[in-house]
Amino acid sequence: MAHVIIKGIGSHVPDCILSNADLEHRVDTTNEWIVGRTGIESRRICLDTETTSDLGYEAAQKALKHAHISSCDVDLIIVATVTPDMQFPATACIIQEKLKCTDIPCFDINSACSGFIYAIDIARNFLLNNPMMKNVLVIGTEKMSSIVDWEDRATCVLFGDGAGAVVLSRDTDRDSEAGIIDVLIGADGHCASMLCCPGWGAAIPVNVENVKKREYFIKMEGREVFKEAIKRMCAVVEDILLRNHLTIDDVACVIPHQANMRIIGAITDRLGIPSPKMYVNLQHRGNTSAASIPIAIDEALQQGYIGPGDLVLTVAFGAGMTWGAALIRWK
Ligand code: ACO
Repeated sequence: MAHVIIKGIGSHVPDCILSNADLEHRVDTTNEWIVGRTGIESRRICLDTETTSDLGYEAAQKALKHAHISSCDVDLIIVATVTPDMQFPATACIIQEKLKCTDIPCFDINSACSGFIYAIDIARNFLLNNPMMKNVLVIGTEKMSSIVDWEDRATCVLFGDGAGAVVLSRDTDRDSEAGIIDVLIGADGHCASMLCCPGWGAAIPVNVENVKKREYFIKMEGREVFKEAIKRMCAVVEDILLRNHLTIDDVACVIPHQANMRIIGAITDRLGIPSPKMYVNLQHRGNTSAASIPIAIDEALQQGYIGPGDLVLTVAFGAGMTWGAALIRWK
């Protein structure tokens, strides 16, 4: 059977660092509270002039270079984001223009922090079912700072900006076992109101009253999200391992969505994952939503946590609620 491999990967974060000490000047919080409850020490934040598509473009350029292909070789662009540059057109089209790859299909998906895993599943299916497609560019990119309520201490400490991108391609080496082995995704719309950004859509009209009610910022029931996240991430990891006749012992590196150190700690304990297998970079990235997993894979690779032939397991949850896991045998 044909395999889809990650041919290239890259990530990009803005230069500006927002530390917990900086946040102490903005809201009633302390470095001790943020580190103790989340593990986050700092996050990268865009300048007003930097956009989601700018971050995605930079990450995409690095992924194309790593894959040794040019933007002309890309057959499809999928962008996972909850912070598109505009309501429309899709941020994928804006990045397409920046990359100068004309006439190919481009679209965005919104599955919040699970968006990257959803997007690689879609890309994999395109590649396996459409022989005309050779390379799909999947980008997770977010300017979370644009929808964070900087007056809400319970949420503004959590998020950061950034982007990660991969080039997915059909492997020409039929004997190789490398590639995306399986992807499992799911959602429960019953939990939609637990974590949302109610404004910007058709449900809440744009008017002064709704601006005053801060409807255009993230709203979150933190404790409920926390419990759901642990439940769903543990279940999807168990399911994907079971249906592939694997155990956690077969996995070399686990890349979880980087939301909260206590959530990562809980799934590490419940699933019996040895801590060194768990890759964590949220200390200096915060929660970058759909960008979290591709940034973490790229940084884990650069730091030597992932090597050729390794089995990598990624797992995410996000608003929706959505969740997903992917098993990747590294090329
Ligand atoms: N600094 C100081 N105190 C704070 C802060 C802060 N930044 N934020 C909240 N508090 C206070 C609260 O007001 C509360 O005070 P009270 O007891 O006097 O009422 C107290 O701390 C405890 O608040 P909780 O919300 O119960 O704190 P909790 O231990 O649950 O931690 C947190 C909050 C970190 C948000 C946690 O619930 C969490 O991580 N939830 C999951 C969030 C998450 O991962 N979201 C991303 C989802 S992914 C996506 O799709 C975007």
